[in-house]
Amino acid sequence: MKKRTALITGASSGIGYELAKVIAKDGHDLVLVARTQKKLEELAKALQTTFKIKVTVLPKDLNLPNAAQEIYQELKSKGIGIDMLVNNAGLGTHGKFTQTDAAQDAQMMQVNIVALTELTKAFTPDMVAQKWGRIMNVASIASFMSSPNMAIYAATKAYVLSFSEAINEELRGTGVSVTALCPGVTQTNFFETAHVSQENINRFGSLVVQSAEEVAKSGYQALKAQKTVHITGLVNNLSVNSMQWVPRQIRTPMLGLMFSFFGENKEPS
Ligand SMILES: NC(=O)c1ccc[n+]([C@@H]2O[C@H](COP(=O)([O-])OP(=O)(O)OC[C@H]3O[C@@H](n4cnc5c(N)ncnc54)[C@H](OP(=O)(O)O)[C@@H]3O)[C@@H](O)[C@H]2O)c1
Repeated sequence: MKKRTALITGASSGIGYELAKVIAKDGHDLVLVARTQKKLEELAKALQTTFKIKVTVLPKDLNLPNAAQEIYQELKSKGIGIDMLVNNAGLGTHGKFTQTDAAQDAQMMQVNIVALTELTKAFTPDMVAQKWGRIMNVASIASFMSSPNMAIYAATKAYVLSFSEAINEELRGTGVSVTALCPGVTQTNFFETAHVSQENINRFGSLVVQSAEEVAKSGYQALKAQKTVHITGLVNNLSVNSMQWVPRQIRTPMLGLMFSFFGENKEPS
């Protein structure tokens, strides 16, 4: 692949941080987006020094209504075109729908769905015009299953999967491809934000829990291979595929029970 420019949202930690490292290692320039400017600047400095690439830091809160347009316009005014868009920023909430914080629910829908869609809308036409582009939207294995106790989160990820597959099909023959990356449980700050007990996550063990680095490497390979849907890891592939065979009436209560154990109170809710 010749030298390209990739925009990565949520590059300040977890999967996005590791994606920035693997894409930089391949020699591509980067635009890093998240709210925490200091972490982005530290990462930019390290990547510029190590890989001799250009890194632009763009601190932005994707929860704000015009964030996607502001990012597009700011880059345009700097003459920076985007060849690869990685919509990774996202958050979850754990708990029953009637009990979760409404403001955090709204933020989750704004970042996971609205900002992702608006960024894709802003950058795709230029990719089509140049006949080359790669988009990767970070979904989840939760995209495939209704998840009581993480109901809105799983629904936002079902949207990401559905949207990504559909527009990938629409873009066929344009030189632009869309990949939905579907990780399972990954060791990042995600669980702290979502009020999920880290102790309970650790109980899954290393066979289930992947590192952010592992997910990022596998995701980037899928982007390069223009894979439409990529589930990371053998166990996640087995879970998603076997779950399809379990009738919904059994599957949803089963998942509800499993997700109830995720809570910070460590007791099924
Ligand atoms: N960890 C898992 O088990 C898992 C599994 C499946 C899918 N995923 C998905 O993977 C993606 C990355 O999550 P992660 O696990 O790496 O979690 P993480 O470590 O918490 O990273 C989340 C990233 O999103 C950014 N972000 C959150 N809210 C934002 C906002 N309002 N504006 C701009 N950036 C924002 C954060 O940066 P700032 O706080 O600096 O803004 C951070 O860089 C998410 O879409 C998540 O749903 C995670």
